[in-house]
Amino acid sequence: MCGIIGYTGYREAVPIIQTGLGRLAYRGYDSAGIAVCANGEIACRRAHGKLENLIDKMARDPIAGSTGIGHTRWATHGRPSESNAHPHCYGRFAIVHNGIIENFMQLRAELKERGHVFSSETDTEIIAHLIQEEYDKKRDFITAVRCALHLVRGSYALVVICADAPEQIVAARNQSPLILAKGENETFATSDITAVLAYTRQFTFLEDGDIALLTPNEIAIYDAHNRPVQRPTKTVQWDVAAAEKQGYPHYMLKEIEEQPQKITDTLRGRILEDEVSINLDDAIDELHLENASSIQIVACGTSYHAGLVAKFYFEKFARIPTRVDVASEYRYADPILSPCDAFIAISQSGETADTYACVKLARRAGAKILAICNVIDSTIPRASDATFYTRADPEIGVASTKAFTTQLVSLLLLAIHLGRTRATLPEDEARRALHALRTLPKLMEDTLARAQDIPKAAQKLLRANSFLYLGRNTLYPIASEGALKLKELTYIHAEAYPAGEMKHGPIALIDDRLPVIVIAPQNATYEKTLSNLQEVKARGGRIFSIVSQGDDAVARISEHAFTIPTCDETVQPLLCVLHLQLLAYHIANMLGNDVDQPRNLAKSVTVE
Ligand code: AGP
Repeated sequence: MCGIIGYTGYREAVPIIQTGLGRLAYRGYDSAGIAVCANGEIACRRAHGKLENLIDKMARDPIAGSTGIGHTRWATHGRPSESNAHPHCYGRFAIVHNGIIENFMQLRAELKERGHVFSSETDTEIIAHLIQEEYDKKRDFITAVRCALHLVRGSYALVVICADAPEQIVAARNQSPLILAKGENETFATSDITAVLAYTRQFTFLEDGDIALLTPNEIAIYDAHNRPVQRPTKTVQWDVAAAEKQGYPHYMLKEIEEQPQKITDTLRGRILEDEVSINLDDAIDELHLENASSIQIVACGTSYHAGLVAKFYFEKFARIPTRVDVASEYRYADPILSPCDAFIAISQSGETADTYACVKLARRAGAKILAICNVIDSTIPRASDATFYTRADPEIGVASTKAFTTQLVSLLLLAIHLGRTRATLPEDEARRALHALRTLPKLMEDTLARAQDIPKAAQKLLRANSFLYLGRNTLYPIASEGALKLKELTYIHAEAYPAGEMKHGPIALIDDRLPVIVIAPQNATYEKTLSNLQEVKARGGRIFSIVSQGDDAVARISEHAFTIPTCDETVQPLLCVLHLQLLAYHIANMLGNDVDQPRNLAKSVTVE
C-alpha cells in the first residue's frame, strides 16, 4: 500500500510531510514526492528510490507552503521511476492516490482524444486530468473532485490540493483506507495513523464513498449521496511501534488478517463486472500460453508450494502437462525445455537468485516466460516476457503469508483463463470456479473468524519435538506449506506427507508424542484421508484437523478440529492454509520467538 499524508494548517507543510513519510518508510516503497500550494501555484518535487533522495532534492531546490501532500509509492501501474512517482500534477491540481483505477485504459484513451497529454504510465494521473476538466466547468474544488470520481471505477484513497484554494484539501475514499485527523488549527489526511501520531491522537476514519473538505479549523465530510455526515472520532492510544502494525502485535498477524482484502485487490479489474469475463494484461495474452505444449514452473520455498498447487489447476482446467521444480535443483539438472513450452517463475520478491538463474536458463531455451511476482519491476519480472503482479503490497513478516495466497489466486485465475481459451474447461465449470474466486474474500473472513480456538490448540503443542502434516492432492502442498511455516517460526521440526503415503514409512513414527496435523475438508478424497487417520488413531496418535463445517467423522477422532466454511473444492487450499499460518504463528509467539524475523532467515534470498 502506498503511504499518503496531507496537511493544512498554520505551520510549514514540508517538514511535517517529510517526517510523516519517514514514518511510513518501514513498509517499503520505490519513490516519493511532495507538493504544496505556494504563491497561487502548485510546487512539486519527486524522486525515485529512497526518501533521502527526495529530501536531498528539496534541500537543493526547496518549496514552501502551509498546505501540502506527500506520498511514498509502491508501484502497481507503471514502473518505479520519478515520472511515475506521486504527486501527479495537472493544471491547478496535485493529487496523491492509493488504489487501482480499473477503467483507466478507457479513460486515458478518451482523455487523449480530447487532447490531453500524459507524463506518466500510472492509472493515477488520469484522475488529475479529470478533476481539471470538471473544474473548468464548475469552478468549485470539491465539486470537481466529486464529479471526476463519478467517472472512475476502482479503489482509491485520494488526497488533492488546488492552487486556487491554498487553505483546502479534498480527501476521498473508496475501498482503500483513508484517515482524517484534527489538531489545533491544523488538519491532516493520511493512509496511516503512524504518519501524524506526533501531532494528534484524534482520528476520523472515512467510509467508502465519503469525500471530505479539510481546512485548518474544520473537517466537513459528505457521504456517497453528497449528504453531510459525521463519522465517529476515535482517540488512539497506540505508540508509534503499535501504530505501524495497526494495533497488531506483529506484522505477520496483520498480514494474515489482511488476506481477504489482498485477494480482492488481486482480482480487481481482472474478473470484469459481468462476473464471468477475465481481463489479463495484454502482455500476458500476447504470450499465448494456451498454445504451450507443457508448463514448467520453478520457484523456492513458499512460492514453490504455490507452484505445486497450481500444477493441479493447470492440468485440471487447461489440460496442459505441468511440471514443478525447486529452482536450486532445476538450474543444475540440465532440464528439457523448448520454445513450445511455457515457463512460469513464481517469486514474491522477484529477486531470488536461484529462480532468476532459471529464468535466464529458460530464456536461452527460447521458452515463453511468465513471472508471478509481487514487486513491480524487480529483477525476475524484468527478465521475463510478461508478469502477473499479485498486488499483495509489501510483505514485512519474513514468513510469507499474503504473498502466498495472492500467488495462488493469480495462478488459479490464469488456469481458468487458459482452460477457457483452450476449450478444455466447460463454461459452467469456469463460471463456478470464478464464482468461488469472487466469494473467496468472504470465505476467508469466515475462516479467520473460526480460528478463535487456535491459541488453545497451540498451547497443547508447545512441547512437541516434531510434527507430521498430511494432505492429499492440492492439500498436500498446503500441508508442506504448513510444515514450512512451523519450521520457520517455531524452530521445531515438521514434515509433510501425502496422506496416502504415510503407510509406506512414516506410520512407524506415530505415537502420542508426534502431533499429526491433517487437512481433511469434504472433497473427493475425504473418505480416503479418514481411513488414513483411523490408522493414526489406532496407534495412539494425536490428531489436529482442518475440516469442513458440520464434519463429524474426522472431528470426532481429533483433539482439535478447525473448520472452514462449505466451499468449492478449488478454493479449499486458500482457506485451509489460514489455519496453518495461525497455528505456526501462535506456537512461535508462545515460545517467545521473534515472529516477524525468525532466526537465520532473510526476506529476500539474493545469493545462491
Ligand atoms: C517463506 O515463508 C519463506 N520465507 C521463503 O521460503 C520464500 O518463500 C522463498 O525464499 C522464496 O522467496 P520469493 O518468493 O521471494 O522468491
